[in-house]
Amino acid sequence: MRQAGRYMPQYRKLRQRHSILDLCHNPELAAEVTLQPVARLGVDAAIAFADILLPFEALRLGLSFTAGEGPHIDRPIRDAADVERLPTFNVDAELGYVMEAIRLARRELPADVPLIGFAGAPFTLASYAIEGGASRTFTKTKQFMYQTPDTWHLLLNKLAEVVGKFLAAQARAGAQALQLFDSWVGCLSPDDYRTYVQPHSRKALALASAAKVPLIHFGTGTATFLEDFAAAGGDVISVDWRIPLDAAWARIGELAIQGNLEPAALLAPAPECTRQVRDILARAERRPGHIFNLGHGILPETDVAAVRAVVDLVHGG
Ligand code: CP3
Repeated sequence: MRQAGRYMPQYRKLRQRHSILDLCHNPELAAEVTLQPVARLGVDAAIAFADILLPFEALRLGLSFTAGEGPHIDRPIRDAADVERLPTFNVDAELGYVMEAIRLARRELPADVPLIGFAGAPFTLASYAIEGGASRTFTKTKQFMYQTPDTWHLLLNKLAEVVGKFLAAQARAGAQALQLFDSWVGCLSPDDYRTYVQPHSRKALALASAAKVPLIHFGTGTATFLEDFAAAGGDVISVDWRIPLDAAWARIGELAIQGNLEPAALLAPAPECTRQVRDILARAERRPGHIFNLGHGILPETDVAAVRAVVDLVHGG
């Protein structure tokens, strides 16, 4: 989770000269950043360097990142006219630079290190598009959802189509697994998840499944509706630390599982971090189909050596 990023000195060095959007738009640089953590951490897979919000540029919403404040959307979606105005576009034409970065990274990565492509899930993307940036309460998003459900479904349906096609295009470019990030879906009640979100995540994952590569369905705070979350699709269900790994696995049945170290455990004294890693491994019982990962993104305050130690511990070193 966020294996490339500000906690890495090499990444920070590149960021002194290039904005985050510059890095994403430049396939050579994006491929370089994709490879950085693989060499330094010894992880088993690489994740393409991009951002879930990049499709907003093609949707003409206006996207920027401001230091300290995160993403900013210049023309947030406020009503039905805004949704109807969203252009349809060809993902290879508008987001071709992501596919090019994937092609380059795939060429440069060791053959035994798979490359993961990704996109944002309809709900999480809609939350940024409606709020205009990050939010803690998702007030505008929920107001939009309840006040104008038809327009809400139209918006999420359009986003599902964009990300489904985008994911499939990434696989064609060389991504060997695809991850759909529904980072903020845990703010919803189980009923609302089923009514307002699940059909659209299902559509995005169904479109992506045309690519015939494993699909990872990521969410946080999903413990109260995990069965419905898993039923939306994905070969691998990613869970956060708010639920024990074995309890989550029992509820998703035959599917594979990803998770679920608390990212802040990497800030704890080494013995405590080690204890938490061992606890997750014990709960996985060496059953096939567990991808060890953090439950959410690495915190910028994290020491790279602490991450490397966790990778080595998981590898049994
Ligand atoms: O190794 C990797 O995982 C890097 C590729 C990656 C980025 N964003 C680059 C990035 C991935 C997989 C993402 C996904 C992403 N982006 C998500 C879903 C995953 C999650 O963490 O929940 C979300 C919600 C976003 C939206 C986003 N992008 C936010 C909220 C921010 C600001 C975060 C902050 O702390 O400032 C970004 C910017 C961003 N995207 C960074 C990185 C490495 C921050 C670093 C920088 O400013 O250079």
